[in-house]
Amino acid sequence: MHFTQFNAHGHLRHLLTLEGLPAPLLTQLLDRAEDFLRPGGSLPARSTALAGITVGNLFTEPSTRTRASFELAGKRLGADVINLEIQLSSRVKGETMLDTIYTLQAMGVDLFVIRDAEAGVHEYVAGHVEDHVSILSAGEAHLSHPTQGLLDALAIRRHCGGFAGKTVTIVGDLRHSRVARSAYHALTTLGIGELRLCGPAQLLPPAGEFHRARRCTTLEEGLAGADAVMMLRIQRERMAEAEMPEVADYHAQWGLTPARLGLAKRDCVVLHPGPMNRGVEIDSTVADGPQSVIQRQVTYGVAVRMAVLEHIANGRLAHG
Ligand code: NCD
Repeated sequence: MHFTQFNAHGHLRHLLTLEGLPAPLLTQLLDRAEDFLRPGGSLPARSTALAGITVGNLFTEPSTRTRASFELAGKRLGADVINLEIQLSSRVKGETMLDTIYTLQAMGVDLFVIRDAEAGVHEYVAGHVEDHVSILSAGEAHLSHPTQGLLDALAIRRHCGGFAGKTVTIVGDLRHSRVARSAYHALTTLGIGELRLCGPAQLLPPAGEFHRARRCTTLEEGLAGADAVMMLRIQRERMAEAEMPEVADYHAQWGLTPARLGLAKRDCVVLHPGPMNRGVEIDSTVADGPQSVIQRQVTYGVAVRMAVLEHIANGRLAHG
């Protein structure tokens, strides 16, 4: 049977990918995330929407930002949250992961947030848990990172004033980037004007992917007139030694410097999912400069994850 992220009542149960989700649902989640934003310096938004629910964060790849973000999102909604960083041998990944999930499920964990470097583990697990249990992806291989896609969309909506007619350029290692794939799904669904992909040929995605985006061969071409530029780091852990570009060459050709940013629109905003490699894909003056929304993205990440957790919990509570 074809895997579906929706339950029998048509409500979102799992969130493994943004691909195929309807625009109104994405908009609803972004709108709800906005409700959770507070002015800087004030106390964060809180509710009891997840009271009684237990969230298990299961990360088999290192993460600081996304794990902390999901943890805070769960806690601020009143959930019990446990964090597990586990190392699994990849040969039996699916089954071993499932054993861990069954154990936690037996302890009453009902919402699992999973990050794993292997494609398909999330779907495999989602196909085996009890009916009331949900799986949320916090990153799957190079394929998908749905809450990152939502937070990037929220940043663009807020700082570019919407999606229609706007040009967003993603620069760097697109081939190995789940962030780029989820941004592509979110932004094309939400009606972005133009999405450009830009990076060295060996780091661009295979030809069959990102068919609604325009590929640019130079950073200058990619940046001209852009409303937002998203810089990506080189995913060294997902490539062979021979594929890796030389750092100095990379910065010379693809690094975002203040001068290059000047080619984009005057008020072009700069995004980066983190972790950043300052002096490689982005200069510190740009990362910390007035056009950077990189820290805001982190704030939006918690709000978006609260919106997603609440939405999924509501779907369960509405139908028992
Ligand atoms: C990204 C990830 O882990 O996919 N980071 C993140 O979620 N904050 C991007 C990356 O690792 O480069």
